[in-house]
Amino acid sequence: TGGGLGIGREICRVLAGCHCKVVVCDILLDKANEVVRELDEKHGEGTAVGYKCDVTEIDQVRQCIYLCSKKFGRFDGIVNNAGIGESDPYRWYKKVKNENQEEKDVAEFKKILDIDIFAVALGTYVALQEFKRTGTDGIVVNIASMGGILPMPTAPVYAAAKAAVINLTRSLSLTSTLQMGEDEEGGGGGGLGKVVAVCPSLTETRLMTAMRDQTDDGGEQMKKELGGFLSVQDIAEGVRIVIKDLVDGTVGSGEVMRVTYRGGYDYWTPGKKTRRIKPVLSVSAKL
Ligand SMILES: NC(=O)c1ccc[n+]([C@@H]2O[C@H](COP(=O)([O-])OP(=O)(O)OC[C@H]3O[C@@H](n4cnc5c(N)ncnc54)[C@H](O)[C@@H]3O)[C@@H](O)[C@H]2O)c1
Repeated sequence: TGGGLGIGREICRVLAGCHCKVVVCDILLDKANEVVRELDEKHGEGTAVGYKCDVTEIDQVRQCIYLCSKKFGRFDGIVNNAGIGESDPYRWYKKVKNENQEEKDVAEFKKILDIDIFAVALGTYVALQEFKRTGTDGIVVNIASMGGILPMPTAPVYAAAKAAVINLTRSLSLTSTLQMGEDEEGGGGGGLGKVVAVCPSLTETRLMTAMRDQTDDGGEQMKKELGGFLSVQDIAEGVRIVIKDLVDGTVGSGEVMRVTYRGGYDYWTPGKKTRRIKPVLSVSAKL
């Protein structure tokens, strides 16, 4: 989802490069179709299909998944990537001027929560149902954020939504839990879905430039604290690694991968030893 731009577009490129067929879903159909044309040209006609989908609408998400099964003969997984940030980093710290402002703020809180957590729960739920329906084992990758692990004073609602994505994912961790319902009358059986989250640190995209431009120093302080900003290629590589590790069985459902400029890729569980994987590409490229 959100495959028309930024991190989502790069994930589509990497998946197509790994011989996957891809449904590029975005609320911006023209952007999704640009990606489809690029992938078809590079990997052959019929590699990708575009679909206009608002991820907050369950019927549209369902249709998107059915389209995948219909067009490609199967549905192996979803990357719940579509997301939005906050438009005003200082709203929590200044006096609300008028009712209009309050209305605008509240509407934005709802929109952020709708897209950044509600839609992720929806996408995960519908995908797990489709695995059950078709009897296929599959994968759900939820794009969270380091902002779901560390506090984000300039985007607290976004940070709260991303923390919720992480715990939604971790809560779907145990295979035994995912198999619950197997024996229930009428409802059990079918394919099993494994759910993982990827938590990028700040990455050069439209979303991130908007946040950077809101700062007084054009993001210089942020960059200094983090060591640098990540590239979309860094995050797409993280998604590739976590899918490969799930398929190999080296990690299981509920796993959370962090991607940071200084720490590279690692698997993170609170209270447990972090499993380092490797540095990120953008750092290696500069060495
Ligand atoms: N860029 C960063 O610094 C950063 C860091 C951590 C996590 N993330 C997460 O990565 C994901 C992708 O972000 P990005 O930086 O590539 O942003 P982006 O703005 O470049 O791309 C987001 C995409 O999602 C689509 N989208 C937005 N609302 C939608 C909706 N309702 N239905 C369908 N599609 C919708 C947009 O049209 C766009 O194509 C988001 O979940 C974001 O929170 C980004």
